[in-house]
Amino acid sequence: MTIDVQFKRIRHIAAGILSLAALTLSGTTAAQQAKLKVGLMLPYTGTYAALGTAITNGFKQYVGESGGKLGGREVEYFVVDDESDPAKATENTNKLIKRDQVDVLVGTVHSGVAMAMAKVARETGTLMIDPNAGADELTGALCAANIFRTSFSNWQPGYAMGQYMAKKHRRAVTLTWKYAAGLQMVDGFKEAFEKGGGKVVKELTLPFPNVEFQPFLTEIASLKPDAVYVFFAGGGAAKFVKDYAAAGLKNSIPLYGPGFLTDGTLEAMGDAGAGLLTTLHYADGLTSAKDRSFRLNYAKTYKLQPDVYAVQGYDAAQLLGAGLAAVKGDVGRKPELYKAIENARIDSPRGPFVLSRAHNPVQDFYLRKAEGRDNKVLEVSIKGLADPARGCKM
Ligand code: PHB
Repeated sequence: MTIDVQFKRIRHIAAGILSLAALTLSGTTAAQQAKLKVGLMLPYTGTYAALGTAITNGFKQYVGESGGKLGGREVEYFVVDDESDPAKATENTNKLIKRDQVDVLVGTVHSGVAMAMAKVARETGTLMIDPNAGADELTGALCAANIFRTSFSNWQPGYAMGQYMAKKHRRAVTLTWKYAAGLQMVDGFKEAFEKGGGKVVKELTLPFPNVEFQPFLTEIASLKPDAVYVFFAGGGAAKFVKDYAAAGLKNSIPLYGPGFLTDGTLEAMGDAGAGLLTTLHYADGLTSAKDRSFRLNYAKTYKLQPDVYAVQGYDAAQLLGAGLAAVKGDVGRKPELYKAIENARIDSPRGPFVLSRAHNPVQDFYLRKAEGRDNKVLEVSIKGLADPARGCKM
């Protein structure tokens, strides 16, 4: 081979390498510049509408504070109103994954809807961050490498209240909507309440989202328990607390519940809500710098005071941001992305938290008292409470 031919060959190979490098480079740039598609599947109508809005506000607040980007990528939203309807959940989830091709699913509020979402997320390997729904299964039997939660398991706030109430009362009646969230929040409550020496004498339920409470109030009045424990949230919670007071029960049989009863609902309850004691992983009157700046920004942006739902939405964006920062926005690097999310320490307005092995927050629960529009913190009722993650094999 002459020197000339050899030189031509080398030039040819070098040109090939260069164009390949250029292609790879432009590919990377395109991926980095493409917007991050975030699918928000939340309720914007029905009894949980205000909860979905608060989560959306919180999520967008964090993205806004981060210059509109997560992991270096601008965020684009695809929004579906899931109506808290489990019958429409699979189709709604598929719309976001197949039609809109979202990079991440953020949702939802209702446990039944979240379980259907989680099944699709597992089947398609889509990253899912749950900013509210407490279904124990999500970080229990349905736990998965790609499913994370920034809120709570239904067991957690129920257990915290059971432990507190066992110190004060012996016989309790429970009342809730008959679906996963209510039933599991009663189970968690009963576990701790009976371990502490109490007895649940009757478990009452009504279908979600019914608000015809009268027959149940009549039954409670005739059972005369020492205390009543309920799970209701959103519009239904406000109606229940007003009906409980109007039935004349407020001053004779103390009413308790997980803090969903009074978060975001005190204004609608008026005097009926005053003095209610609840347990939750957030409260008004926390003194951290993080909570103060979060609340100031929230009030400035939305002309509203934030609640637990806004915090959970904010933290969903924080958790996603922590994962994406580790992979420079490349959602394709799944093992690294999931590892970074798993190991994140979230500086939440509720207080710092980490995730359990099953991807559920390990967090403090506060005892709170309703005063005006606030759920004032009284004390930390349980420190670093971890869900038992029953059935999780991961
Ligand atoms: C749920 O369905 O998991 C749920 C709904 C509303 C809440 C809490 C939990 O406030």
